[in-house]
Amino acid sequence: DWTMAAFKDRAIAQVRAQVGKGKVICGLSGGVDSSVVAVLLHEAIGDQLQCVFVDHGLLRLDEGEQVVRLFRDHYNIPLVHADASELFLKALDGVTDPETKRKTIGALFIDVFEAEAKKIGGAQFLAQGTLYPDVIESVSFTGGPSVTIKSHHNVGGLPARMNMKLVEPLRELFKDEVRDLGRELGLPADLVNRHPFPGPGLAIRIPGNITKEKLDLLRQVDAVYLDEIRKAGLYDEIWQAFAVLLPVRTVGVMGDGRTYDQACALRAVTSTDGMTADYYPFDHAFLGRVANRIINEVRGINRVTYDITSKPPGTIEWE
Ligand code: XMP
Repeated sequence: DWTMAAFKDRAIAQVRAQVGKGKVICGLSGGVDSSVVAVLLHEAIGDQLQCVFVDHGLLRLDEGEQVVRLFRDHYNIPLVHADASELFLKALDGVTDPETKRKTIGALFIDVFEAEAKKIGGAQFLAQGTLYPDVIESVSFTGGPSVTIKSHHNVGGLPARMNMKLVEPLRELFKDEVRDLGRELGLPADLVNRHPFPGPGLAIRIPGNITKEKLDLLRQVDAVYLDEIRKAGLYDEIWQAFAVLLPVRTVGVMGDGRTYDQACALRAVTSTDGMTADYYPFDHAFLGRVANRIINEVRGINRVTYDITSKPPGTIEWE
């Protein structure tokens, strides 16, 4: 009968058969899918696997370091950490249109990945965390093949350009099965249960122009919010939770003084596949606690709002 342990053994045997003595490059994002692929491949072919982590500087607080620590230091997987944050910030300078943001990030991501892969040299295979829903739907997460609501950012254009063969060990799995496989492989629970995070990262959670200052501000708000969600034991009940930095300044009072600072929005949704979603019904005491902490701890924010839009008509991300 079908068990995840048996699936794992079969997947490892298949990878070995496909790859032989060849070299494989795997792009790591810090998300569940690419992490599971990396650990599975490492178990299958050891140091024939080389991972590349393109850090676009649009990640959450400390997330870049966490990726390096886990894969390079804990698993001893050969890992190149390409810190390309300056490059991405420069490319995004003055870009405010959501689709242009996504396309700018997607294209640059491919360029950086390709350059790093070339430096490593001579890999015949590219590993990807393609899931079953990606296989059956040409445009996942969006309105269907004919209407692109949002350009999805992944490394889709890469294999053809780089003339590499694909290794896609998750092609038969749904998201919850990938999580099971991750557990089977012994990946840490906080990684396996991690909320989805979009390829374009925090860039699509900052409507308008993106700057280093805004990114740092958003990272702080987001960290406080997620800390409270974890403390309340709600993280695993929620499909995705994050903060959005609004391009709006409003007036407030702090002590004896007037403030004129930025507003932020908090978002949390439940969902089974990201295609539809309901906003999460936090109780007001929780929301009040989070708002207090954010305003007290994050300088530059003086107003907190909660997004109560479901999908549809809203999307989960703001851009
Ligand atoms: P939306 O905002 O379209 O998001 O309702 C649905 C789900 O997809 C994630 N998302 C992305 N994931 N690359 C990704 O890997 C992307 O470009 C991207 N855009 C949205 C989003 O976080 C949510 O889980």
